[in-house]
Amino acid sequence: MTLLDLLWSVIFYPILYVLPAYVANGAPVLFGAGRPIDRGKKFRGKPILGKNKTVRGLVAGIACGCIIAAVEFPFLNYMLAIGVLMSIGTQIGDLLGSFAKRQIGMGSGKSLPIADQYLFLVFAVLLAVPFGHFPSLYGWLFIIVFTGLLHLFTNIGAYKLKLKKVPW
Ligand code: CTP
Ligand code: MG
Repeated sequence: MTLLDLLWSVIFYPILYVLPAYVANGAPVLFGAGRPIDRGKKFRGKPILGKNKTVRGLVAGIACGCIIAAVEFPFLNYMLAIGVLMSIGTQIGDLLGSFAKRQIGMGSGKSLPIADQYLFLVFAVLLAVPFGHFPSLYGWLFIIVFTGLLHLFTNIGAYKLKLKKVPW
């Protein structure tokens, strides 16, 4: 195995594999605005999702993730289906996270470690499982570490660019 093979299987392929999910998770920060998905409704006296989960963010997240899937498709055919489902799974995980945060009494934008960083990815991968293409074990380990760091630094960056009100 050459160094290039190693870099491909541990770093580059895993990143390409989860890229639709990353983009589906990040796009709402850029494009989200306007009407909340839950329209301000409550469940058990708590906001269902909260005002930060917008229809535009949801649509933009899925659309941008699908664009990545389409760009990867000519090189890795199976990434079209995997990428589309990951984009949807990302949004499912993100909304479930917000629902859970609201139910335990956390206000919109408050940080819930682990859930904030990984729930989107867990659901993205769950929806992709039926297609049966996966990174290597070391690829997964890299993704777990990389996702945590990416979340940390992209949020600090988005805060400094005034795209987000909080740096987490
Ligand atoms: N966003 C959006 N629509 C979505 C998801 C996110 O408009 N469906 C935008 C919002 O501006 C949100 C930002 O992206 O503030 C960051 O998303 P995230 O960190 O997932 O939401 P939080 O603001 O932390 O809200 P919550 O506590 O519900 O997770
Ligand atoms: Mg957040």
